[in-house]
Formats: sequence, structure tokens, C-alpha cells
Amino acid sequence: MKSLPLRTELVGEEPYGAPTDPVPVRLNVNENPYPPPPEVVSAIGHRLAESAASLNRYPDREVRRLRTALADYVRRDIDPSQIWAANGSNEVMHQILGAFAGPNRSLLTFAPSYSMYPVYARDTMTKFRAEDRSPDFSIDLDRAADTIAVDPPAVVVVASPNNPTGTPLSPDEVRRLHNLVEPTGILVIDEAYAEFSDSDSALDLVGELDHLIVVRTLSKAFGLAGLRLGYAVASADVVDALRIVRLPYHLSTTTQEAAIAALGFADELLAPVTEVMSEREKLMAWLCERNIPYAQSQANFVLIGPLVDSTKIFAKLRDRGVLVRETSIPGCLRVSIGTPVENETFREKFGELVDRTGAVE
Ligand SMILES: Cc1ncc(COP(=O)(O)O)c(C=O)c1O
Repeated sequence: MKSLPLRTELVGEEPYGAPTDPVPVRLNVNENPYPPPPEVVSAIGHRLAESAASLNRYPDREVRRLRTALADYVRRDIDPSQIWAANGSNEVMHQILGAFAGPNRSLLTFAPSYSMYPVYARDTMTKFRAEDRSPDFSIDLDRAADTIAVDPPAVVVVASPNNPTGTPLSPDEVRRLHNLVEPTGILVIDEAYAEFSDSDSALDLVGELDHLIVVRTLSKAFGLAGLRLGYAVASADVVDALRIVRLPYHLSTTTQEAAIAALGFADELLAPVTEVMSEREKLMAWLCERNIPYAQSQANFVLIGPLVDSTKIFAKLRDRGVLVRETSIPGCLRVSIGTPVENETFREKFGELVDRTGAVE
């Protein structure tokens, strides 16, 4: 790499990604532990076989049929012109920064949060700024108001529920933040985990708030992480701006057809969500009983800690066949909710390692 004329800010950077060790219990990337049911697999297979016959042609650049299927799924009087889709919500948010941020503009978020936000900023030459969240991981909106007034950001991104803490943002908080950001900025609410939450979605506010973009994904609750399909819901003007920066034919025919087929089975695909939510509550109750600190979560994972030596616990869990995630928060590990058997295995192995005060035995 030394001799390559790489952009200075990329020198020494590593590609983003969690370890992918092939251990029996993988609870490190917040996936849905259940594969799609057989009827969905067969419907996707059928549609892919049919569409393969026209793979000599480029896909629909405007993704019209899929955007209509997503609008039907989202409901709330959302028109297909208010929906945009791309390869995962990661690509959607990258496009948002491509359209609304860039040199001499900034992205503001509230830390700790999703570790890809600084990466989107870096790639689009946007200045990255992070305000600290409060000790309970909520956002202090009075403090945010001061920060935004002093130096208005082009884009504010908030994950709700937040990764890695599981903290939701209420519709009232979204409205308040939007009013702070408008008219010069855009507010992105990243709802990758919204289907696991009891809190109301910001989708209800899209018709009301012009500078709001709600981003969602089929990777988590839908259990289709391998499909790579994320979408944005916003005003038609915002969507038109995203269409300017998307690469031509960014979403393959294969992805579009598989996603349309899958959306026909939304209820079946989302069926495990209730079990995941109750397993999350069970894990939090188990931690509470043992006085092990954790953050109240509304997502399909729980942030545990601070622990006395989280790095050692992480390694020992991995040696015992359970992969969790180390986080940027000192002493804290994030564990995804898996199947009941996987969760039981986690509790058993973790329980062996951690005593009642959260210290290593
Ligand atoms: C908060 C948050 N947003 C977005 C994503 C990206 O999801 P996708 O698979 O749709 O790109 C993740 C993935 O872990 C996430 O945690």
C-alpha cells in the first residue's frame, strides 16, 4: 500500500467488519437467528428462476416495482415516490451523505452509536462530529440544541433503537430534533432495529416533517441479511436527491426480484420477532437478578457492562464457542439475541465467567 497514492485519511485504515470465527453460537452481528421458512425460500427461488431469463438486460434503474411493494408494506399513506431502496441500509445512508453532506459540511451523531457513521463521513469527505449521550444513553436535547445552533450540521444521524445500547428515540424527541436541524440540515433516523421495539416509529412523522429520512432494512427483523436490502422513507424531493447520487443500476434484478418475493411473506418472515423480544426480556431479567450491569434494550441485542475485564471475557466466551461483540464502550460487550437454545448457552457460559458483581472469577 505504501507506494499507492491513497487518500491521506485512508492510510492505515482497516476495512470495517466484525470477526467471523466459525464458532457454534454466533451472537455478534445482530442477525435474526432463523433462516427464511421453506415456502419463502421456494417463492424467492421461483421468482429468481423466472427473472434469470432476462438477465441480459439491465435492472429497473428506478426500482419501481420494489418501491411499490415497500410502500405497501410500510402503509401510512406512503407513496412509492417517497421510498428509496439500495444494497442494505448502509448503502442508503452512504447515498444520503453523498447527496446532503460532503466537503465543508458535517455529520453529527450521538455517541456511543453505530460504528459505520464515521466511515460514511470519511468516505464522503464530510466532517464527523459526535456529542456524548447521557449516562442512561438518552440524548440531552438541550445540549444538542446548543451544539446545533453553534455549528449547524448538514446531516444528523440517530439510530433508534440505538446500536450498541438499544435505546429508542420517541416521536416527540424526533420532532424536536428535526426542528433543531431544519431548515439547513437533514435528520436521519436509522430504524434498523425498529421492529423489535415497543416505541412508536418515526415513520408516522414522514408526512409531517420535510427534512426527516427514516432508514430501514430487511437485514434484521426480516432475517434477510444476505439479501442486502435497505430502504429510506422520506419526502419525494429527498428521494429525488438520492436518485441523483445513486450509481446507475445500483440494485440488481436478482436483489429486486428476491425482495419483492420476500415482501409477499412479511408476516411469516417477521414471526420470530415476538420470540426475540421475549428472549431479550429474559436475558435482561437474568442479568438484573445477578446484579450484572446492562443497558435497557429495545432491539435484538443487549449491551452488558461495564465488566471488570471484558476483553478477557470476550476471549473466554469465544474459546467456549460463543461469539459476542466487543464495543467502543470500555468494559462493555454486546450480545445479540439468538434462538432460545443459543441464549441459554450464552447465559450458561457467561454465568460461569462472571461473578455476581460483573468481575471475572
Ligand atoms: C444501527 C444500524 N444501522 C444500519 C445497519 C446496517 O444494516 P444493513 O444490513 O441494512 O446495511 C446496522 C447493522 O448492523 C446497524 O446496526
